[in-house]
Amino acid sequence: MPTTRVALATCSILPDLDPDDVPLIGALAERGVEAVAAVWDDAEVDWDSFDLVVVRSTWDYSSRPEEFIAWARSVPRLANDAELIAWNTDKYYLKTLGEMGIPIVRTLWLDPDRHLTSQAIHTRLPAHGDYVIKPTVSAGSRDTARYQENTAQARGEAILHARELLRSGRHVMVQPYLNQVDVAGETGLVFIAGEFSHAIRKNAMLSRGHRPTQGLYQEEVMRSVEASEAELALAQRALEAARTILGTAAESLLYARIDTLPGDDGEPILLELELTEPSMFLAKAPASLERFADAIAARAAR
Ligand SMILES: Nc1ncnc2c1ncn2[C@@H]1O[C@H](COP(=O)(O)OP(=O)(O)O)[C@@H](O)[C@H]1O
Ligand SMILES: [Mg+2]
Repeated sequence: MPTTRVALATCSILPDLDPDDVPLIGALAERGVEAVAAVWDDAEVDWDSFDLVVVRSTWDYSSRPEEFIAWARSVPRLANDAELIAWNTDKYYLKTLGEMGIPIVRTLWLDPDRHLTSQAIHTRLPAHGDYVIKPTVSAGSRDTARYQENTAQARGEAILHARELLRSGRHVMVQPYLNQVDVAGETGLVFIAGEFSHAIRKNAMLSRGHRPTQGLYQEEVMRSVEASEAELALAQRALEAARTILGTAAESLLYARIDTLPGDDGEPILLELELTEPSMFLAKAPASLERFADAIAARAAR
């Protein structure tokens, strides 16, 4: 029987994968699967030659999402699949989920085609409370920043930030800064093959006066945590809504991570539904490595 071969897709800055994904290679070898790291935009890779390609640390696509989606569509056996990725790489999907009754962060969407003036942006920024400006296509907190509510300087910087993103053709989100994240942090719920696996807690990422991050991703402080009933229920609802929209079965989602922030009343709110390239934090929950390897091996053997 020929060996089952799997590619773990990454980016050229991390050609040997994110350290958290490296143990997958050994775990898959134990299951008779030969896994290799492969850079998604490396023209030399023959994607046809793999039984399965799993998207992992492809974090440099946010400045060229069309290219990334075209690549995804060109790979014969990709997990998660290309249509899912096309839908999920642009945070406009949150708008749809919000309309379906999922609690999302209150968001103002700025369209680059409207050619908003500084004054027009100014009138759209919240008058009270800190707020966040970020592009709809982003990963790893890139180009994301928090602004203080009532200083003229912060307002000027925020307008400049929004204008720069819009000028480069990017869609922009303006959200109130959810203060509870400073105390409680963000909870990420990881699902493998449609089933809840483990949860992690991430510290707040955006301090006041912090410049928008330009690097590949911002360093994160993370620990394992037990998800609350409310967080689990929200995650299940969000996944179910995504499946309804995309017409996919539960187990056909090889991986998913649902990130939630506490609202002012402490109830969880959906920040992000990551079906494209979530860090899984396998090292934080050891059994999850085995679970993920099992799921990949099963999918590759189909
Ligand atoms: N509305 C918000 N309130 C508080 N923190 C936020 C908000 N939006 C983003 N953040 C912070 O910024 C980080 C990155 O934002 P996120 O929406 O998850 O985008 P990315 O796709 O870059 O991960 C989050 O992990 C969180 O710490
Ligand atoms: Mg995030």
